[in-house]
Amino acid sequence: MSDAAAETATTTVEVVFQPGGRRFDVAQGAVLFEAATEAGVEVDTVCGGNGSCGKCKVRFADRSPAPTPLDFLHLSAGEIRRGFRLSCQVVARHDMVVDVPASGDRARARILHHGTSREVELQPNVRKLFVPYVNPRQAEQVSDWDRVRGLWPRQFRPKGIPLHLLRRLPAALRDPAGMTLATAGRQVIGVEVGDTTLRQYGLAVDIGSTTLVAFLIDLGTGAEVAVASAVNRQTAYGDDIIGRLSRAQRNPAGLDRLHGMVVAQLNELIAGLLERTGIAATDVLEMTVVGNMAMHHFLLRLDSTYLGLAPYAPVIRESFSVTAGELGLALTSDMPVFALPNIAGFVGSDTVAVMLAAELAEGNAMRLAIDVGTNGEMALGNRKRLIACSAPAGPALEGARIKMGMRAAPGAIDHVQFDQDVAISTIDGAAPKGICGSGLIDVVAALLDAGLLNPAGAFIRHADLDPAVPGALRDRLIEGKKRRDSYFRLVRAGEHGAPEDIVFTQQDVREMQLAKGAIRAGAMILLQEMGLRDDDLDEVLLAGAFGNFIDAGNARRVGLTPQVPVDRIRSIGNAAGVGAKLALLNVVERRRADRLAERTEHVQLSGLAAFQKAFTTAMRFPKD
Ligand code: FES
Repeated sequence: MSDAAAETATTTVEVVFQPGGRRFDVAQGAVLFEAATEAGVEVDTVCGGNGSCGKCKVRFADRSPAPTPLDFLHLSAGEIRRGFRLSCQVVARHDMVVDVPASGDRARARILHHGTSREVELQPNVRKLFVPYVNPRQAEQVSDWDRVRGLWPRQFRPKGIPLHLLRRLPAALRDPAGMTLATAGRQVIGVEVGDTTLRQYGLAVDIGSTTLVAFLIDLGTGAEVAVASAVNRQTAYGDDIIGRLSRAQRNPAGLDRLHGMVVAQLNELIAGLLERTGIAATDVLEMTVVGNMAMHHFLLRLDSTYLGLAPYAPVIRESFSVTAGELGLALTSDMPVFALPNIAGFVGSDTVAVMLAAELAEGNAMRLAIDVGTNGEMALGNRKRLIACSAPAGPALEGARIKMGMRAAPGAIDHVQFDQDVAISTIDGAAPKGICGSGLIDVVAALLDAGLLNPAGAFIRHADLDPAVPGALRDRLIEGKKRRDSYFRLVRAGEHGAPEDIVFTQQDVREMQLAKGAIRAGAMILLQEMGLRDDDLDEVLLAGAFGNFIDAGNARRVGLTPQVPVDRIRSIGNAAGVGAKLALLNVVERRRADRLAERTEHVQLSGLAAFQKAFTTAMRFPKD
């Protein structure tokens, strides 16, 4: 035998993969899972070989290696007896024959939320791992930290542990109940006594200018455990972003105040969620957060001075991870908070999250996604090109600045229809208290169709009404001495149990025109930028925290959307929240979000003459 051949013989071993009998020479000492992957043999995995998913099991026909702690963790005693081992824990020291089971069902979660449905593999950034007790007398002479790190393959080994957790390690490691380690990426973020692997939760948070929404998610199953929402208290400092930015401009105390308000409110929402579900704060392992650029800066307490001044430079666009302790959140201080990436201008991570949820970058279909909120953010494109902008819509479509407007909550009128008289529905069927965004769009569409409102947005005077207008509707139109004092009485006190009249005023129509005009004008500019017309759009997606679906036909009728056939318009609810959940459940989705933010071109609307022109046109309602 030549020297070279002798060397090969001593440094490789033969692995036979069954079924199929494929034979490979692999380097002695290689990890079996990696050798299989390199050889193109598909071994099931969720964790990518870090020993936490328990999916990569293979069966040894004979000479099965000694089981590792992770084998005991993931496999049943019967499986271990029958020769099953986790391939990511097996080191190929000698020739071996292994049976690779067919890829089983991987742990997946289906995220359903108001019309958005995305299936995502459970691959969170945070994990818990149970370490069974090993009698210290049988343990090797290594440091506790090395012993813990040694549970992972080298390339996935935790790199860091905070001092206060390191101090807990010796006692936990020697506790007969075993211990559980929580990791985020390659950082240890929790050390607990006993097996707590069934208790791992995360929070996905959408910080809107007007509404905050927090979802509590079971990271083991992907299921939504509870949700809480509230009106953003910062609205006290201005219901649009500009007012709040000017408060924080070159004013650290103002910025502190805005930051403190959002953190305090998040703490209240989180405390409510934990109390309702009986889940401990220590079992919440991570939080993902989305919001527009201003909300992002306020949460992180970043100087937002230059965000409010042309050319509107943010402090950071990329995704960013901080700890709950740094933000002052009432959760475990080392718990990571992952802020998704922003695009530019005011177009923030909430838009990236909508794009992620709607898979806007997939396929060739040309789609426009509009997040209807105080800041009407929208993105247009397909896998080849993506552009986005932010239109200053104001909060009317979230129920603010409307005389009887309210957010989507029990008692909000969410749908309206006119026939001979008015028919309404309310959220949860409660007695009507006010009108939310989807209801407002319905009211305006119904008023236009009934001939009570003209395309310029003015209530028609009784004397000029078409004789065909039913008497009951005519009676509800109350004419003021001046046209601006006219209003429509949508619900009379006592009707459907309403405690007072619910009216829709001429001023409300104006607010709606401003809001829908800004959004429509933004969409017109994006289409122009792409060289497209309305009819070139394959789909228009309407997102927003409406609490219920916007009626697609009515959204088109009032001119909120481009004038495409109604079957091309789809309402997708709080898609920004769905994007935050996707990023919580799967690290690959985070990378997709990073890529989306990087490649989306931003169109700055403010100061653009074409936008002002489009806005003037878009304020009018379509004729029919
Ligand atoms: S690949 Fe996940 S445990 Fe082995």
